[in-house]
Amino acid sequence: MIHKGIVLAGGLGTRLYPLTLAVSKQLLPVYDKPMIYYPLTTLMLGGIRNILLISTPEDLRQYQRLLGDGSQWGMNFRYSVQPEPGGLPQALTLDEGFLHGEGCALILGDNVFYGAYLSGTLRRTAQRETGATIFAYRVKDPERYGVVEFGSKGEVLSLEEKPARPKSHFAVVGLYFFDGTASEKVKSLTLSPRGELEITDLLRLYLVEGLLNVEVFGRGFAWLDTGTHEALSEAGTFIEVVQKRQGLMVACPEEIACRQGWIGAKEIESVINRFARTDYAEYLKGLLETLG
Ligand code: G1P
Repeated sequence: MIHKGIVLAGGLGTRLYPLTLAVSKQLLPVYDKPMIYYPLTTLMLGGIRNILLISTPEDLRQYQRLLGDGSQWGMNFRYSVQPEPGGLPQALTLDEGFLHGEGCALILGDNVFYGAYLSGTLRRTAQRETGATIFAYRVKDPERYGVVEFGSKGEVLSLEEKPARPKSHFAVVGLYFFDGTASEKVKSLTLSPRGELEITDLLRLYLVEGLLNVEVFGRGFAWLDTGTHEALSEAGTFIEVVQKRQGLMVACPEEIACRQGWIGAKEIESVINRFARTDYAEYLKGLLETLG
């Protein structure tokens, strides 16, 4: 059972300048919450409560200020600096004391997931002890992502990072589950032409071993982009529409922690007091009432 997760919140966010000149991209708002709440709660839905958060030397303190040691949500957080943007696989080797050779989930701090079967899919995936699992999602513009090509029996034919001529419409989303061999595999990777380690190269090592599992997030599922101003604003609107319509919050860590049994009414009440006179506090009050 995989019970550790790494959230990667590095990068310079240059495509969102000037928004990200002084603020880390993954702290920008997606409607009513910091962006990082979305990937973090995705891991929580998968039952993962031991988290390593990685960011730049300049930004790490802001994340520590926002998230603390995790105990407010019944979780454990630790933090690591990525001195320079060296590619996503680096996240698996920056703090070997965290993984101790165990498997983990890796999620990118700017990926937003929403859908009814998310929690069940993640829990099932976390039970897989061997190999790696990735998730594919059909998009209109696959050339912006890692792209997976399937054969007629659903087997993986190829994996390519941002190909100029994509072989399919299936992007590889920024959520990966790895077994305990991942950090060793990372050490054998070489730099790509853009001078970074590439996650797609790591996944290809699992593919040649026959140990790469691919799940598809299908219709009715939302994997949202936050990489451009337009996409960021649309992601916020999406969350706003869903929340307003149902009166249920997306990515509320207190609610998820409470439903998982990691915290109780006392912890929720302390957030209500701290956030007094916000819609967030009102929502948590309602939650306490329904839970009795
Ligand atoms: C990274 C990965 C890419 C993946 C994407 C998902 O790209 O390299 O394979 O599809 O995340 O968000 P980046 O957005 O960091 O350039």
